[in-house]
Amino acid sequence: MTFHREETVQIPESDLEGMSLDTLAVRAGQLRTAQLEHSDAIFPTSSFVYGSAAQAAARFGGDEPGNIYSRFTNPTVQAFEGRIAAMEGGDRAVATSSGMAAILSTCMALLKSGDHVICSRGVFGTTNVLFQKYMAKFGVETTFVSLTDTQDWDSAVRSNTRMLFVETPSNPLCEVADMAALAKLAHDNNALFVVDNCFLTPVLQRPLEHGADIVIHSATKYLDGQGRCVGGVVVGPAKLMDEVYGFLRSAGPTMSPFNAWVFHKGLETLPIRMRAHCDNALELAKWLEQQPEVEHVYYAGLESHPQHALAKKQQKGFGGVLSFCLKGGREEAWTFIDATRMISITANLGDVKTTITHPATTTHGRLSPEDKARAGITENLLRVSVGIEAVEDLKTDLYRGFQTLQNASNT
Ligand SMILES: Cc1ncc(COP(=O)(O)O)c(C=O)c1O
Repeated sequence: MTFHREETVQIPESDLEGMSLDTLAVRAGQLRTAQLEHSDAIFPTSSFVYGSAAQAAARFGGDEPGNIYSRFTNPTVQAFEGRIAAMEGGDRAVATSSGMAAILSTCMALLKSGDHVICSRGVFGTTNVLFQKYMAKFGVETTFVSLTDTQDWDSAVRSNTRMLFVETPSNPLCEVADMAALAKLAHDNNALFVVDNCFLTPVLQRPLEHGADIVIHSATKYLDGQGRCVGGVVVGPAKLMDEVYGFLRSAGPTMSPFNAWVFHKGLETLPIRMRAHCDNALELAKWLEQQPEVEHVYYAGLESHPQHALAKKQQKGFGGVLSFCLKGGREEAWTFIDATRMISITANLGDVKTTITHPATTTHGRLSPEDKARAGITENLLRVSVGIEAVEDLKTDLYRGFQTLQNASNT
């Protein structure tokens, strides 16, 4: 390979053709400068210089590829985009400033006033607000349906339906949607099928292989994996991504080079982290099911989960997030959380550190009581994003919660 001064060098995609996801996570999108650094460089610059006025004009006019301005061209951001696109099996990715910016950019680029969206009820609370409050202001109406009842989706279709949006598994109840069935329904009706793949990542689920047109991530979660940065990304075919990129260039919900670097490096350990998250979560889910204070555990890896068979069919693992209902209500849920000593009380998920959340008063707190009830967000529900600590230590910490509840009921 020849390295040219003043040029960055990318490993040609053809050199990685046919390689496994574990390899793509480490190697795809690698960008190497003339310094020949082994780890990836960061390009924290707002603009780029040109060799001449003519070259500047050619870049701006789109006649010559290359960097212009970091709102829409930055090598570090492109490196991250190249790697996640390869891992999801999409033509192209567009990185954004947050997961919500990824969803917003997709909607702004691909929907117009008068269009109709069908969205699963069990989505992240803010996604629900984005559709219900803000997209509605611009004439895009959304119908919320049961994630798991394909008939419900079918009945919601209208002549102006242009997008089916789903988060699978859902947050926080871990319900699983039949992606192939929803993709068919979308395509039979000239609509796009969009999947938020935040909970599983391409390591455990590749929605484009199941008929999705677009995959969305909150990179803030597992792609980073260590809770450092907020970011998002949209992946899909070049034709659709050109539209999303066009919106990003004009509106500016851009990922910073530093954040892109963190996510790019985060992807290198994603496969081994996801396997560790899955092992710990399955073990904890089984253990929680045996606790007398637990009313129900939601985790698709359990045979008791209603979509266990579907999850096994379309996923390579069950992920690191589980939820459970305690016997009781908010008081018991908060008492349990407050009794833990090691696990972090925080609403983020996908971190190597285990986190615990009360969805009804945090992530889903902005939903109306009716919407909460419809989405199954009850006051006794707790969500645990299982990290990669020793699982026995996680049990020890969670047991503090059970013990405190037992002591309270004995007094
Ligand atoms: C499933 C899912 N999608 C999207 C988002 C939004 O991502 P961000 O917080 O990066 O904007 C979240 C955030 O928690 C989420 O859990």
